Amino acid sequence: MDDVHIPDDLTTVLYSKDQVQQRVVELGAQIDADYAGRDILLVGVLNGAVMVMADLSRALSSHCEMDWMAISSYGSGTQSSGVVRILKDLNTDIAGRHVLVVEDIIDTGLTLSYLISNLLSRDPASLKIMTMFRKPEALANKVDVDYVGFDIPNEFVVGYGLDYDGRYRNLTSVGTLAPHVYS
Ligand code: XMP
Ligand code: MG
Repeated sequence: MDDVHIPDDLTTVLYSKDQVQQRVVELGAQIDADYAGRDILLVGVLNGAVMVMADLSRALSSHCEMDWMAISSYGSGTQSSGVVRILKDLNTDIAGRHVLVVEDIIDTGLTLSYLISNLLSRDPASLKIMTMFRKPEALANKVDVDYVGFDIPNEFVVGYGLDYDGRYRNLTSVGTLAPHVYS
């Protein structure tokens, strides 16, 4: 089904539903090959990663479990401060597990670097990072990411789990918001 809100609220569709779905399947195949039959513990970061977690997990033929963390980064509006608070921790003990963090988007990478050091302190057998979208600053800061869906321009995007003020997460495609939505 098409996204009914698209014509009005998005100025540009960066990636269509089909492009997003195809990329997730490609990443799934790559991850399957890399993990070579090992069980994977997927750790999704709420709320944004819900869509990619659902699709990636079903694109894998590896055995996987899913767990979730909710974190909030202190700081105003759309700027992340790097000071992070855990709102919901994992239910799983990750010691000795092969952990793959599933993220919706990495911007500065500050949230991710906190998450990585926090998870590493719990002694996983391995820790890798997958993000569906990555912005230029993360690329410039050489933030260590193992699997990237798409590198996108430095613009605020919504859809496929990404929100503006809680809305648009349910769009199946990803795009930039029209100015009238902000005002
Ligand atoms: P950092 O800078 O710590 O930030 O990598 C990552 C978090 O910032 C949010 N973010 C966005 N959310 N559209 C969104 O809906 C965007 O374009 C966007 N850029 C950053 C998001 O919560 C992400 O986890
Ligand atoms: Mg997020």
